[in-house]
Amino acid sequence: MKNAKVTVNRLFEIGEVKDTMFSSFTEHLGRSIYSGIYEPGHPDADEGGFRKDVMDLVKELKVPVIRYPGGNFVSCYDWHDGIGPKDQRPRRLDYAWSTIETNEFGIDDFCQWAEKIGVEPMIAVNLGTGNIKDAGDLVEYCNFPGGTYWSDLRIKNGHKEPYNVKYWCLGNEMEGSWQAGHLSAEDYTKKALEAAKIMRWVDPSIKLVACGSSYEMLPTYMEWDRKMLTELWDQVDYLSTHNYTMNAGQGTTNYLAAYKQLDDHIKNSARVIEYVKAKNHFKKDIKICLDEWNVWNFQDIKLDSLDDLAGLTTFEMTSAEKWEIAPSILQEKYSLLDATVCGGLGITLLNNADVVDIACLAQLINVIAPITTKRGGGVLKQAIYYPFYLLSNYGRGTALKPVVDAPKVATEFGDLNVVEPAVIYDKDKDEFHVFILNTDQEEAVKVDFELQGYGDRKVVSHCVLAGPSAETINTFEKPDEVGMKELPVSGSTEAELPAMSWNMLILK
Ligand code: AHR
Repeated sequence: MKNAKVTVNRLFEIGEVKDTMFSSFTEHLGRSIYSGIYEPGHPDADEGGFRKDVMDLVKELKVPVIRYPGGNFVSCYDWHDGIGPKDQRPRRLDYAWSTIETNEFGIDDFCQWAEKIGVEPMIAVNLGTGNIKDAGDLVEYCNFPGGTYWSDLRIKNGHKEPYNVKYWCLGNEMEGSWQAGHLSAEDYTKKALEAAKIMRWVDPSIKLVACGSSYEMLPTYMEWDRKMLTELWDQVDYLSTHNYTMNAGQGTTNYLAAYKQLDDHIKNSARVIEYVKAKNHFKKDIKICLDEWNVWNFQDIKLDSLDDLAGLTTFEMTSAEKWEIAPSILQEKYSLLDATVCGGLGITLLNNADVVDIACLAQLINVIAPITTKRGGGVLKQAIYYPFYLLSNYGRGTALKPVVDAPKVATEFGDLNVVEPAVIYDKDKDEFHVFILNTDQEEAVKVDFELQGYGDRKVVSHCVLAGPSAETINTFEKPDEVGMKELPVSGSTEAELPAMSWNMLILK
């Protein structure tokens, strides 16, 4: 067995974890909305057609903010199509995912669903094929109390009170040629600036998220952010970036070390923010909104090589024909190994709590998601449900800076400690929540925790992600193969982390 030591000191804080850290995302894509959130006629649907079994799980996950309606979808979306009597809503081709959008579910439905489960909506406006006036009108529709055309239309459509949507995204991944209406950095900057002005004129209290760089292979990576932030600094509150981790033949050691890749990615965004701030003597801060992150193994996408991604204009799905309605696409099946890696990414979010304010697990239901539903049937917790559940429920408080003394493992990201921890101090409960990954595939690691300045503490609970093998997935037939398992505790400051495991410990 290997040995490691993790030390924290009460004077060395990373920062407070914002309540918005474990947010999520749901897009008009595949069965995320239709037969995910919304399935009228389902035995468990309420009067609005919302599935109560799904709402219960979203509540259990304590998701604070949910981003909607896309993703790539938003760049072809006209929000007017999704309001008013359902039988009069138009059917449209959605170019992003080559499906037919029925528009049975729209902005009112989403905001009302969010209201029911106590979630704050984050709405993305279309800055691809859409225009800036429509963005302002949407803010008016959602947030203006009444007495104007759009606010009165919302009232007529059944919602007297404004939704008061706080978070708004100025488009989605506008840097990429796969985006409908893709723009250069200069053109995006002009359009986003004008949209932001109008949106804020309608409601000055809103928070705006600007599209930053997400794809390191693009020649505009970071240069886009520099140009855009220089002009938009005063108008926006957050810089968006996306990051997906893929098990693409790099070997298990490197896959397990993916948290480091996410860490580098976040730090790049933080660096460009700092650079623009310093260069222009700006005073206020801009924080990162990592509004898409997850493990995504492209199980359902036809890809000849990773280079295809750079010039891809439409994703080709292997499980659906073109122009189906809500097909079962991108329904990733997550293994225990994927969940372990996903948990590692969550650790990195906590360790970047000083720069990341919002992070959205992409996505929430059916599409690259922790929750899978059956049309007309039940719900399933995918393996990644469990680390997300623990992070969201216990990853709130003060993130402390962990100093690790441990054997190293050689990875494509350099030599890394065999264990990767995040340590959260929960002041209200006066206890520590430690999330810790053991990347050693063969050996357990015994870790000793030294919590300097907090008196005498002991491990009182040890929970590990567990299942019969690293490849095991949960299925409707066998839903509980991968889950959380309690391990015995030592009654000391030590804990034994099983080989290749993701753990959550409570020290009191
Ligand atoms: O989450 C799936 C897709 O991934 C989103 O639509 C897009 O923003 C990203 O490329």
